[in-house]
Amino acid sequence: MQKNNENTVNATITGVGMYVPEKVLDNKYFEKIVDTNDEWIMARTGIKERRILENGATSDLATGALKDLLESTKTNPEDIDLIIVSTVTPDMFFPSTAALVASNVGATNAWGFDLSAACSGFLFGLQTGASFIESGRYKKVIVIGADKMSSIVDYTDRNTCILFGDAGAAVLLESTDDKNIGIKDSILHIDGIGKDYLNMKGGGSLNPTTHQTIDDNLHIIYQDGKAVFKYAVKGMADVSVEIMEKNDLKSEDVSWLVPHQANLRIIDATAERMGINKSQVTINIDKYGNTTAATIPLCLVEYYRDGKIKKGDNIILSAFGAGFTWGSIFLTWGMD
Ligand code: UT7
Repeated sequence: MQKNNENTVNATITGVGMYVPEKVLDNKYFEKIVDTNDEWIMARTGIKERRILENGATSDLATGALKDLLESTKTNPEDIDLIIVSTVTPDMFFPSTAALVASNVGATNAWGFDLSAACSGFLFGLQTGASFIESGRYKKVIVIGADKMSSIVDYTDRNTCILFGDAGAAVLLESTDDKNIGIKDSILHIDGIGKDYLNMKGGGSLNPTTHQTIDDNLHIIYQDGKAVFKYAVKGMADVSVEIMEKNDLKSEDVSWLVPHQANLRIIDATAERMGINKSQVTINIDKYGNTTAATIPLCLVEYYRDGKIKKGDNIILSAFGAGFTWGSIFLTWGMD
């Protein structure tokens, strides 16, 4: 439990940015490369199309998102103290993607690191970034969720290839004395029980890259979809209800549920358990598919820029992903 209300300052989101590549792969494209169809994909996942980065890496998605944020907030990159990049598709094992992003934007006074929590990566990053702000030591913290999922997707596997897309999105965290706004609470979990259900087995210290690991197809996403689905429905709904109860929030007090976009059926089940109307749920899975760490910030940016998320809105962010990792964050939006 990380209740923040007792702290003298709250961390709040004061800027946002996003980057999605131009190339679109719609469901019809997948009908040509694997045994699938638009009806199955729409009915089972809610995905219509996803974006694919043809040239470049995750740092390019993250850099695009951060540049958008810096331009829209007129922030000087030299004022950034810390950059956290949540990703499971770093450009390289090392150096970190955060290091590349910092130099790409000219954040010459920042330090930073990558954070690996798969689809919960943005939530883990946001809580981490908020804690650095609340400590009083750092003034401007950037949290980015970015993944080039197409770099680890097996485009011959119909079970997984239709699910994922590439994107990056970023938020700026700063302090506020206004107790009514900002990041108010989080409940985050991690449990290695998920390792057999959703993983990429090759390339790490367990299975260093060899001809054999390539022949065995270990460098791509493996997912037991049905098993993950069951854990995800329960995990995301339970933790979302728990954070509501802990903060005395009734369903009518929640302006928006911003869920990880892995499957529309998981999102619907979570909203139902929370007693939330579908019109209070941010959805863009139809346009982008599952972009792993980017889904939640991407929803925040789009709904804020469309004028749907407004100052004073109570928002619950919820996610479930590989590990397993899962959790919820409760915040009140502070941007006009
Ligand atoms: O983001 C990180 C966390 N991940 C998740 O939350 C994902 C959780 N899982 C899911 O979203 C769903 O399990 C999937 C969308 C991945 C799959 O949906 P499902 O309803 O669980 O399908 P299934 O895996 O049980 O497969 C049902 C059938 C199977 O055929 P048989 O064995 O019944 O003949 C699959 O082979 O659907 C088949 N199938 C497909 N058919 C057409 C699987 N993929 C496809 C496909 N097109 N692309």
